[in-house]
Amino acid sequence: MTGGAGPRIGSGICRALAEAGWHVVVTDIDMPSARKVDQALRDDGLSAESLELDTSDHDSVLAAVGQVLETHGNVHGLVNSAGIGLTTPADQLADEDYEHVVGTDLRGPWWCAQAVIPSMKAAGGGSIVNIGSVHALSTFPGNSLYSAAKSGLVGLTRGIASDYGGFGIRCNIIHPGLVACDADFEQAHESGVDVLDRWQVDRQLLNRRITGIDIGRAAEFLLSDAAGAITGAQLVVDAGTSSMLVDREAALW
Ligand SMILES: NC(=O)c1ccc[n+]([C@@H]2O[C@H](COP(=O)([O-])OP(=O)(O)OC[C@H]3O[C@@H](n4cnc5c(N)ncnc54)[C@H](O)[C@@H]3O)[C@@H](O)[C@H]2O)c1
Repeated sequence: MTGGAGPRIGSGICRALAEAGWHVVVTDIDMPSARKVDQALRDDGLSAESLELDTSDHDSVLAAVGQVLETHGNVHGLVNSAGIGLTTPADQLADEDYEHVVGTDLRGPWWCAQAVIPSMKAAGGGSIVNIGSVHALSTFPGNSLYSAAKSGLVGLTRGIASDYGGFGIRCNIIHPGLVACDADFEQAHESGVDVLDRWQVDRQLLNRRITGIDIGRAAEFLLSDAAGAITGAQLVVDAGTSSMLVDREAALW
């Protein structure tokens, strides 16, 4: 599990997987937070450990996956969740921005998949879940690089599914809608901005928060045998955001 320390989606996926009986290796660049996630799971009697893995550093990916293989012998499932966004108009972006966003959001999942595929092949199968975004389906101003990286991740998902289906390895992608954590809501409320609550009402068909656990349950399904015939697929978990052409107010005239 990459980006497993994340307070929005990453930690929610770790919890959903652990509750479903997986042993979860919580990897992240933020080790104090990763250890807290791992500890909270173990405090609840679930099975987890934490490990440093920077998806933008090939050596770090190889070292962490090597350590997991040495300890456990195999990686049955990989969830690529580590990712970053950037909201800047396209003409103001620099090469470093490309390296940072595309390096983390697209090259990272590719390196991680490459690192685990040999052991999955040897074991006769495995499942990889990439965390994409509704920005791979449509976008809004300032997200060109993020949208490009997540769209590229759809292609990578199909490519891996295509290359390794014959080895029993499945690869799918989940597109979350807006997932905010409690701290995001508190910060928004404190600054008097109700953008997150408005988003739920105006930009979703379902007026509810989407949580990391919601994304985790979708990931757990795709990793499980229940999804044994599903590969190369895109699962949208966005409370209906991508099904709306315009926001509710604009649709009322
Ligand atoms: N939050 C959303 O609304 C949303 C919506 C759609 C898609 N996503 C995607 O979900 C994933 C999780 O994002 P999130 O915003 O929920 O964040 P999150 O709260 O789950 O945290 C992201 C985690 O990734 C880690 N990380 C960042 N760069 C890393 C790297 N190079 N190597 C390893 N770990 C790294 C961070 O330390 C952090 O712990 C991302 O791929 C993001 O693009 C998020």
